[in-house]
Formats: sequence, structure tokens, C-alpha cells
Amino acid sequence: MNPLIEAISLSKTFTLHGRGGLQLPVFAGIDLSVRAGECLALTGHSGSGKSSLLRCLYGNYGASSGEVRIRHLGDWVSLSGAAPREVADVRRRTLGYVSQFLRVIPRVATLDIVAEPLRRLGHSADEARAQAALWLQRLNLNERLWHLPPATFSGGEQQRVNIAHGMISAPPVLLLDEPTASLDGDNRRVVVELIRAAREQGSAVIGIFHDDEVREAVATRLLDVERYRLDASMAGAVP
Ligand SMILES: Nc1ncnc2c1ncn2[C@@H]1O[C@H](COP(=O)(O)OP(=O)(O)O)[C@@H](O)[C@H]1O
Ligand SMILES: [Mg+2]
Repeated sequence: MNPLIEAISLSKTFTLHGRGGLQLPVFAGIDLSVRAGECLALTGHSGSGKSSLLRCLYGNYGASSGEVRIRHLGDWVSLSGAAPREVADVRRRTLGYVSQFLRVIPRVATLDIVAEPLRRLGHSADEARAQAALWLQRLNLNERLWHLPPATFSGGEQQRVNIAHGMISAPPVLLLDEPTASLDGDNRRVVVELIRAAREQGSAVIGIFHDDEVREAVATRLLDVERYRLDASMAGAVP
């Protein structure tokens, strides 16, 4: 099976413009390649750059150097080289991302938020809502919440809306940032099953899992982001 996502010599240094252009190196020289059915778990202590790496892989953060390539409709697309329209198409059809926190869209009902990725793929409103209902049911989100916007939901409820939204379109490449962090044991197990099912259906998954048990249940390989960390004090130093 061929890889669905690759990073080649990927580096990220933040430039803090508000602080006189201070350079904050996070990681450098990351190579990775994830095939259909695999799940690569990113490890490393808090602040080591796991979420930043995931955002670079999604194209949310531009890499400082190196390349991210996504297998999209049979071709490789380089995220940094692609036009915004193409990046949007990659995200619509190929690349899913479940962020750590739900970005709430005011006034939109939960059911419609979850249905939206299918609507963008051309499904009818009824079909998309029916699928959204199935996902919310699977994730045990109380039905009385489906027609409300998630702004006032608990952390765990918002996280489940986020997971349903990110997974409903079964993206071939799926990025997950601590998807079970605020879930109870029962819902953690549901999410573990959903991730395993995504792998079995041929998705390539890259995730951050704070919970050892969850990581062991879903990951096929580990990548320790700390190994690629550059200390600010070491930036530019000769080894
Ligand atoms: N947008 C940003 N601007 C500046 N620094 C950032 C930004 N995002 C993350 N960082 C810094 O990059 C480092 C890695 O953060 P992060 O990727 O969130 O780590 P992790 O997910 O492993 O906890 C931290 O020192 C953090 O403060
Ligand atoms: Mg993080």
C-alpha cells in the first residue's frame, strides 16, 4: 500500500513579531510517511511541538522549511505549493482534522455543523443530516442537544461534536489532536473503535493521544517529536 501523507525534512520555527522578531524553534528535520490503515501517534511532553506539527500537516501553519505532501485523487499535492483553492479541495475530500477544541460557529445547530462536511461533498441536506444523526448517536450525544448550537455544551460534548464533524466524511488522511482528552471511559472506548474502523477502511491516521491506553489501542507506530526539538538556546549553535 502506498503512503497517503508524507513530510520531508519538515521544520518549524515561530517568529514572534510582537517581540522584535524573536525566533522560537520548535522542531527540525522531521521525515514521516503514513500508509493506508496505519496510525502514527505523536509523542513528547507538553510543549514539544506535537500540535504545531499536526497544524503544519494540515497546512494551518506554514512550515519554515521542508514539505508536506498529500495523496489527493491519485496525485501528490504539496500543501505549501498548492493554491488556496486546491488546499480547500484537499481538505474537503482527503484531509480531515479534529482540533483539540471545537471552533464554534454561532447560532448553527449541532446537527448542521456535523452534516456540513457531507453537504460540501454534494450530499442532500436530508441525507447529510441523517448521517450526522447516526454519528451523534454513536458518540452518545444526547438527542435534546442536536438542534442547539454547541456554544454552551460541556467540553466533552463539544469534543464529540468535533469528532463527528471531523470523521463523518471518512477522510483518507485523518489528523487528530487529543480527541479523547475530555471524554469519560465509555466515550473514549467509542472513539477508539471509530479510529480503528477508520484505519480498517483504509485511512491513514496521525494523532496525539494523551491517554496511554488509547494510544496503545489505536497506534501502529510512534514518532517522538522531542527528538526533533531545537532548544532556543541551541538555535544556530554549532554542534
Ligand atoms: N502560534 C504560535 N506562535 C508562537 N508560538 C507557538 C504557537 N503555537 C505554539 N507555539 C509554541 O510552540 C511550542 C510547541 O507547542 P505545541 O505544538 O502546542 O506543543 P504540544 O502540542 O506538544 O504541547 C510551545 O513552546 C508553544 O508555546
Ligand atoms: Mg498540543
